Amino acid sequence: MRAEVGFGNGKVVPRLMGLASAIAYTGIDYSQAMVAEAKASNKSQIEGGSVEFRRASVEAIPFADDSFDHALTINTIYFWPEPVRGLAEIRRVLRPSGNLLLVVGTPEQMARNAFTQHGFRLYADAQLRELFVRAGFREVTVELYRDQAPTLDRSKNNLIERSRSYGQQMAVDLANPQCISNAMSAALSPRS
Ligand SMILES: C[S@@+](CC[C@H](N)C(=O)[O-])C[C@H]1O[C@@H](n2cnc3c(N)ncnc32)[C@H](O)[C@@H]1O
Repeated sequence: MRAEVGFGNGKVVPRLMGLASAIAYTGIDYSQAMVAEAKASNKSQIEGGSVEFRRASVEAIPFADDSFDHALTINTIYFWPEPVRGLAEIRRVLRPSGNLLLVVGTPEQMARNAFTQHGFRLYADAQLRELFVRAGFREVTVELYRDQAPTLDRSKNNLIERSRSYGQQMAVDLANPQCISNAMSAALSPRS
């Protein structure tokens, strides 16, 4: 069982489901608009029973302890009011052998986009480690990937369009897409 926190438009889900057969995916996101968008773009997998999206916050994940083997969250921790509480919640719903893959841009990388000055909390490597340890994770590995980020298209002032390209761009461009795929495969593959 895989869980994702903050799936946004849900565009990463087909890639995630393509990593192995018979994957069950459950995503939570606190935005009703994102839940609706993710549901609309993953209809067939929802109907097939392998994918579920729910509206919920990382501070109160609506699942029992030890429910998931793997968890994933991409470019979301910047917005969590209580990051240790959020990470501890993810840890609670992970089995003891489970793992969390958290993907973020580095503060240096993110600072190149002016929008990160508003509402983003950026974390350096050492700060992330500390948050994970405080949340009770036992092993923390940080890997740095080369930045391939183009800047956002500032001509798009329409809010919806911006927030769409924003979600995709954060996941697909701010980190090397191949690296994300590799990291996802490694983090989400069954453990021996
Ligand atoms: C920048 S988007 C990233 C979306 C997607 N992961 C991606 O990389 O394309 C951040 C997402 O996290 C969600 N989010 C932010 N804070 C959250 C929280 N406390 N609990 C649940 N979801 C949250 C937002 O609604 C949004 O969909």
